Amino acid sequence: MRKPVILITGASGEIGHGLIENLAASEGTSIVTIDLQPLPREHRDLVDREYLGSILEIHLLERILAEFEVTTIYHLAALLSTRAEFTPVAGHQVNVEGTLKLLDFAQSQGESHGRPVVFLYPSSIAAYGLPDLETKNTSGPLSEHEWNQPTTMYGCNKLYCEHLGKYYADHYKQLAAETLSGKVDFRSIRFPGLISAFTVPSGGTSDYAPEMIHAAAQGEHYACFVRPDTRIPFMAMPDAVDALLRLAHTDRSRLTRSVYNIAAFNPSAGEIAELVRRGFPKAQIGFEPDLKRQAIVDSWPADVDDSAARRDWGFDPRYDLETAFSDYLIPHISDRY
Ligand code: SER
Repeated sequence: MRKPVILITGASGEIGHGLIENLAASEGTSIVTIDLQPLPREHRDLVDREYLGSILEIHLLERILAEFEVTTIYHLAALLSTRAEFTPVAGHQVNVEGTLKLLDFAQSQGESHGRPVVFLYPSSIAAYGLPDLETKNTSGPLSEHEWNQPTTMYGCNKLYCEHLGKYYADHYKQLAAETLSGKVDFRSIRFPGLISAFTVPSGGTSDYAPEMIHAAAQGEHYACFVRPDTRIPFMAMPDAVDALLRLAHTDRSRLTRSVYNIAAFNPSAGEIAELVRRGFPKAQIGFEPDLKRQAIVDSWPADVDDSAARRDWGFDPRYDLETAFSDYLIPHISDRY
């Protein structure tokens, strides 16, 4: 008998950090991870098996398939939006080919043990692409289907993989004599920018918010690469992890879609700087917009409509802007440095 496990790809990254601790806290959960980077020492004992390597190495997935019965996959591995602009082909390989391999792996797992594999896929506000600032400032909170015209490689990858996941779930090999779809139970969240008190992201374009806070806590000057009036949705990391877990545990019959927006607060970069200065009065923050990264953030929505997530699976973030700073970010980040 193969052992039932939860598989996490990109487990050493920012979301993985919070997810492993949460999953490990629930009794009887066995976790297998894949990442190029080793897990932090405090997480190694929380997982059953840590595979060091790339999701593109098919033999790694074959070894997992041979040994474990994967019930749920959190596919977190990705090259973020700034990094993927420097190496678009590598971005496509990791973000699209990697996801295709994982979906196919989930299909094989589902076929071999006969139950659908729940596949959690973090998508992003980068799946949107607004044509200009006027449209961004006047269009109000965007629904999932609006302005799906991404301008970045990462955004194109995320939007396409949302469709790929739905294809595996609903239409996989639709011309075959027997029905083969339904083995992958695909569920995706379009995350806003995420801010963690414990880790700093690398290679994203929403990174100015976390970078500003972590720099202030360390007494370092920070040159923010977007204008003070730049506005996109953000969320505190614990709410992002809770959202993934909540969506994973919701009965499939309650889900009316496969991709859900979620949002918590949407401060401008200037408002974030004010809150950082309140928490760290010695913070030195300047604004030196990088016009190219600015254009990427300007193409992302100022706000998203997350009513479907609230209705279908009870999404309800714990932290608003004030409490994210006062109860989560400032105290934990101060402790850390
Ligand atoms: N935070 C991501 C990025 O900046 C967007 O999902 O690339």
